[in-house]
Amino acid sequence: MNGYNFPSMGEIPDKKRTDTAPGPAIRLQSVSRVYRGFWRVRRTWALRELSLVVKRGEIFGLLGPNGSGKTTALKIIVGLIRATSGDVRVLDRGPGDTRTLARVGYLPEEPAHYGFLNARESLEFYGKLFRLDRQERRQRAKELIEKLGFEGQGSRPVREYSRGMARRLGIAQALINRPDLLVLDEPTSGLDPVAHRLVTDLFVRLREEGKSILISSHLLADVEKVCDRIGILGQGRLLLEGSVGELLDDPEAIDLVLEGIGEEAAREAVEAAGGQVRSSRPARQTLHDLFLQALKKGRRR
Ligand SMILES: Nc1ncnc2c1ncn2[C@@H]1O[C@H](COP(=O)(O)OP(=O)(O)OP(=O)(O)O)[C@@H](O)[C@H]1O
Ligand SMILES: [Mg+2]
Repeated sequence: MNGYNFPSMGEIPDKKRTDTAPGPAIRLQSVSRVYRGFWRVRRTWALRELSLVVKRGEIFGLLGPNGSGKTTALKIIVGLIRATSGDVRVLDRGPGDTRTLARVGYLPEEPAHYGFLNARESLEFYGKLFRLDRQERRQRAKELIEKLGFEGQGSRPVREYSRGMARRLGIAQALINRPDLLVLDEPTSGLDPVAHRLVTDLFVRLREEGKSILISSHLLADVEKVCDRIGILGQGRLLLEGSVGELLDDPEAIDLVLEGIGEEAAREAVEAAGGQVRSSRPARQTLHDLFLQALKKGRRR
């Protein structure tokens, strides 16, 4: 199913068995990339000695400010450009290997669509490029149109799409070949909160199906909710890497939301038990949740 041919347990000694076990979804080792400008005189170091691992079955968020090298790293991973130096392995092969690419879904930073096609035709066209047969192309396009909320837009040409719709179509397109690894450059940029929820829920479901996902973003909140691990890039270097819980949880403190007790009484109870209240404020829902509720109400009217 995943392209690996494992020998049965009894056939080979232990050592050999571990040798054939699949490695991580992505492994970059000391990857650097230099862009050369006009007359090859001006040089930009977009990545400097970048080493990182995306494990199988996880969602990894690559964060960083504009120009920090996120797109460059993703393009190297999908084989669109080459690293100047360093080693790149994607699903245990070189990044440009066609067998690897057949199992990878990629959303570019600026996805280009054929404006005269509608969503279904577009997806069927990309299915054809992956050599899916007619029946499967149709089925897959229909499924993705539902998953990404394009029902009712089926006959509209893509040139009429808003930016967020075009981005969602790009995500659908990246999924057409049922990839094992998704490499998505800013997948949630330009999405409204409803589309945002739809897309992040989809990522979580794909992870449950065992897919590996690499997302680049500069929207910190995005990554915090959905990613298992993150890496922060700055000027082409990896500044920080780790699991979201490890990096953000404070082992010394807990957040509690209390009901049915006043602040003073709660403080006294905590202090009597030897603790200290570091901060307190009225519980507040997020603007995101309020927005979704308002839309729901509007629909019911
Ligand atoms: N084709 C190119 N030629 C020359 N320099 C480039 C090229 N593409 C990117 N760069 C430079 O490489 C560096 C990293 O760019 P990159 O696009 O990878 O950053 P990014 O983190 O994706 O930024 P953003 O958040 O704006 O998308 C920047 O300094 C950029 O100017
Ligand atoms: Mg970019």
